[in-house]
Amino acid sequence: MNWAARAREAAQAIGRIGARTPEVAVILGSGLGALADEVSADAAIAYGEIPHFPRTGVEGHAGRLVVGTLEGRSVAVMQGRAHFYEGHTMAEVTFPVRVLHALGARILVVSNAAGGLNRQWYTGDLMLISDHINFMGTNPLIGPYEAELGPRFPDMSAAYDKELIAVAEAAALDLGILLRKGIYVGVSGPSYETPAELRMLARWGADAVGMSTVHEVIVARHAGMRVLGLTAITDMATGEVVGQVSHEEVLAVARELEPRFVRLTRRIIATLSA
Ligand code: HPA
Repeated sequence: MNWAARAREAAQAIGRIGARTPEVAVILGSGLGALADEVSADAAIAYGEIPHFPRTGVEGHAGRLVVGTLEGRSVAVMQGRAHFYEGHTMAEVTFPVRVLHALGARILVVSNAAGGLNRQWYTGDLMLISDHINFMGTNPLIGPYEAELGPRFPDMSAAYDKELIAVAEAAALDLGILLRKGIYVGVSGPSYETPAELRMLARWGADAVGMSTVHEVIVARHAGMRVLGLTAITDMATGEVVGQVSHEEVLAVARELEPRFVRLTRRIIATLSA
């Protein structure tokens, strides 16, 4: 069975539990799952019950898909995601994006927790992703070509949608929420970066570093979805020895900024023109 057929099968299974076509799909990153609890849910399904879906065992990731309405829009919200470092292949780890597309979502909002490389920013800041650097060491589109999924050589010149960026900036301004804008570099993890690596990534022009998102965005763009990316800066990854970053610290900071993230994302969804 090819990936397109698997995505249809998964979408049908989700449809059977009562999901309608979502206008907007949302992927919630580490410690950012609370938004899913605010959805007026038609249904929720554990990833383990969706055919071919990768499971996630990472703390801070609930591992369920919630479908329903939020701010008057139909949404499909992934509470947590599987990561490449858990041992899934790239095709497996990006499969949920194929499923969200197969469900009918044409806008994808991706979120993540990341280390801040930009020295002018602070832990707890929120960042809009303007562009990314794929430093995962691979690409999710490597493999036999399936024409049904999208072009062989998809364009990435405008991976993050300019109109959606404008909507997010207006929403932040409206709510008085400080929203940074910058470049996210994706690494495989699971080890955090060395100081030398962090200096290199900062010199490349990246503002934040994390272990997700870029492969999902490549697949979403491949499928023709419009993408908005939001990053929670959970630690300063500047390479100075000011203590070590830990997953616990990342989760604690993400939880602290979560209410701000939820308010901003709700407002963005409310003002999107689908
Ligand atoms: N590096 C990589 N991934 C991360 C970090 C970091 O400092 N913080 C949260 N995710």
